Amino acid sequence: MTLSFASPSEPSVSLHVIAQSDLDDWLSGQPDQVVSWVRASGFTGAMGQVVLIPGPEGVLTHALAGYGEPSSRARKRFPLAAAAEALPEGVYTIASGVPDDVLDTECLGWLLTGYAFDHYASQSPAKARLTAPEGIDAARIEVLANAEALTRDLVNTPTSDMGPEQLQAAAEALGRKFGASCEVICGEALLDQNFPMIHAVGRAAAQQPRLIDMNWGGTGPKLTLVGKGVCFDTGGLNLKPGNSMALMKKDMGGAANVLGLARMIMALKLPVQLRVLIPAVENSVAGNAFRPGDILTSRKGLTVEINNTDAEGRLVLADALALAAEGEPDLVISMATLTGAARVAVGADLAPFYTDDDNAAKALARAGQKAADPVWRMPFHEPYEAMIEPGVADLDNAPSGGFAGSITAALFLRRFAGDSAYMHFDIYSWQSSKAPGRSKGGLGQGPRALLAALPEILDL
Ligand code: BES
Ligand code: ZN
Ligand code: ZN
Repeated sequence: MTLSFASPSEPSVSLHVIAQSDLDDWLSGQPDQVVSWVRASGFTGAMGQVVLIPGPEGVLTHALAGYGEPSSRARKRFPLAAAAEALPEGVYTIASGVPDDVLDTECLGWLLTGYAFDHYASQSPAKARLTAPEGIDAARIEVLANAEALTRDLVNTPTSDMGPEQLQAAAEALGRKFGASCEVICGEALLDQNFPMIHAVGRAAAQQPRLIDMNWGGTGPKLTLVGKGVCFDTGGLNLKPGNSMALMKKDMGGAANVLGLARMIMALKLPVQLRVLIPAVENSVAGNAFRPGDILTSRKGLTVEINNTDAEGRLVLADALALAAEGEPDLVISMATLTGAARVAVGADLAPFYTDDDNAAKALARAGQKAADPVWRMPFHEPYEAMIEPGVADLDNAPSGGFAGSITAALFLRRFAGDSAYMHFDIYSWQSSKAPGRSKGGLGQGPRALLAALPEILDL
């Protein structure tokens, strides 16, 4: 599926986007016939309402889309998408009513109404198509939409078709599309090349654990993205109860998000040297599974006491982050569905992130707001460092008590990120119920905010 604007040469219906408070004003300039039709159809301008206005020959020439009130718009990521989903099949051109500062976002939302995960059964995404309004960067918006679709597809695909092998294939396919190189260290080779924790977490699964290493771009600052690619998380020997395990095909959401971001960066040719590292594993149960109480020696040399095999993400990420740091990049960003605690803290809608750089944090928060990809800064709170130090080893993968669980996980990861600037996202990557432009299921969280903030953060 490719999400795109309709060609400007296709005949289109003029769409007037009308906020509730602007309806009377708009109607005052219309012929009586239109006024009666709009009034009779009960159109008030409420968000998501539409009314079709036929021309003299009964041909559809105009349509109105309700744009609600500022307070109702503030509750939705893509307010215009609500109307786009209600319009009949056809091509529409926005004639009025969308403020310039949100036009990009509304266009993106509209394109995303065309997304559906239809690999296993046919679906009915919205059929109304949009002509690119003048003055927007249509190509860029298409890139954002298709990167988001990639992320959603990867997360939505169940583990039976998205194990470590297929996640590798997806990364390789993306690499081929944009001329990136892709190397993979798989199975026993992880031990030979010193990725002991990736191997330990993934060795009990039917598919071999692996580390995917994608590289693109020859000039500019070095940016390394690290994504948690746990294709399924049973919890390991600390088995999750059924209801907590139900959604764990999405535990590769970090990988899906860094691949989405990588797609944007490559498609838009950002002047960076991009590296994407994905430890791809399944956290499974078998006789050779790693156990509570085991002490693992990481790639970096730090020893880690396993106090819960369900805190596996930080283990595989730690070895990948250690490799990232060896390349001395200018910035390392990890993205991971790392903790339930992050959900308790900020819920499903916000993407919590960690950084020590105040300016980068501000740039990111601003960019997130503009790009309809809201993020929220969390603290690398130093006094909690003691909580991840068990004594018997250098680090504890699952501090008892669970207080500040997202923060202690972030502090754990930071120990492996070396001297590079480091930013970490503890995301949910899932939309529990459908909303305008946001299908139920897998979801990108953070890539658009990052893409918009990177020029400032990396001085591009
Ligand atoms: N993949 C989970 C985290 C998760 C759970 C993300 C639910 C999104 C939704 C992770 O591997 C995990 O199980 N973390 C544990 C850590 C704990 C054992 C220290 C958690 O959050 O409960
Ligand atoms: Zn887990
Ligand atoms: Zn996990």
